[in-house]
Amino acid sequence: MTDFGRAIRSRFLLEPDIAFLNHGSFGTVPRDVYAVADGWRRQLEVNPDRFIRETLPPAIREAVGKIAPFFKARAEDICFVDNATAGVNAVLRSLDFKPGDEILSTDHAYGAVANAIRYVATRTGATAVFAEVKMPASSADEIFSAITARFSPRTKLLVIDHITSATALIFPVERLTGFARERGVRVLIDGAHGPGHLALDIPSIGADWYVGNCHKWLFAPRGCAILWAREDAQKLIHPLSISHDYNHGFTAEFDWTGTRDPAPFLSAPAGLEFLRELGVERVQKHNRALALSGAQRMAQRWGEPMNAPPELLGAMASVRLPPSWQKFGAPVRATARLLCQRILQRDKIMVAIMPSAGALWARVSAQVYNEPADYDGVVNFIDREPPDTA
Ligand SMILES: Cc1ncc(COP(=O)(O)O)c(C=O)c1O
Repeated sequence: MTDFGRAIRSRFLLEPDIAFLNHGSFGTVPRDVYAVADGWRRQLEVNPDRFIRETLPPAIREAVGKIAPFFKARAEDICFVDNATAGVNAVLRSLDFKPGDEILSTDHAYGAVANAIRYVATRTGATAVFAEVKMPASSADEIFSAITARFSPRTKLLVIDHITSATALIFPVERLTGFARERGVRVLIDGAHGPGHLALDIPSIGADWYVGNCHKWLFAPRGCAILWAREDAQKLIHPLSISHDYNHGFTAEFDWTGTRDPAPFLSAPAGLEFLRELGVERVQKHNRALALSGAQRMAQRWGEPMNAPPELLGAMASVRLPPSWQKFGAPVRATARLLCQRILQRDKIMVAIMPSAGALWARVSAQVYNEPADYDGVVNFIDREPPDTA
């Protein structure tokens, strides 16, 4: 059995001397998967015309066919999109909203997704409603109640995260979807962090659409996400780029949206293979335990709260930064970014510093190449002055 931590680090291209605690933002591609993507690019380049016209269409479907069972889904209900942002936008911008309609999401929605909701609301006269979910969160019941309390007879669409980005909370998506569907409200799940991170049975969640990045926790090259649509919800949506196969069906429309690099899509099965080689459950268990123990040590040392109890956490967790680190030298988002940069320069730690609920939080991720020692530098923040962000 392959050992994790330092022992597996050589299978990634990561700089050798940094504690890389932010798999959650953009993932990291294993060397083997990188080589597979390179192989696809080379195969394309020797005769782009033949590859794009003949090889690519079935190859895309074959790649979807290889990963669909991992999500307990049918290949005909899944398309590749470039990223979660594109998938969410395709759904939001395809739907018809009327003045007075409400699009319901939460104040934990990813910034880009919240903007897409606002954009669509502004263009159609609909109202964007963002339910407040308390931070730190205390239970799935509390999250469920906070969101369901904001349903109204005008709610037309619920957009919820499976795992929130900055705040790293697992939302009770099945229960929320059930509640929405009983009221005839359609549901779009932003599962940017779902694939590879959680054991997924996408159809049984019951949503209309599920978007998930493969380039985070499924080890695919960047630029690879899935858009799953329930059969009856497929005809309602179109890709952001309308192309040759407009109105020729869900998979045809999304499989060709113009010329692009198809290597990330075609390499997604290699990412899944890598995960399987290491053992899917073993990886998920390892990552969750490591993120949790790292965050628990930070919280204990700093005397600050974690984002949530363990049952709401996966392979990411966050802890509020100590008071001495809560001085904003610039607007809070800019301070957060500057802190990340300075911590990397000073401490060789890549950790996500994120604003939430009026404070800055350190979000740590855990992946197979991490080990407990990687978190020590963050735990010891309390002994250090924060880097200057002025
Ligand atoms: C919850 C959530 N949604 C959407 C995204 C956007 O992902 P992408 O940049 O791949 O489109 C992210 C990225 O971290 C995310 O965490």
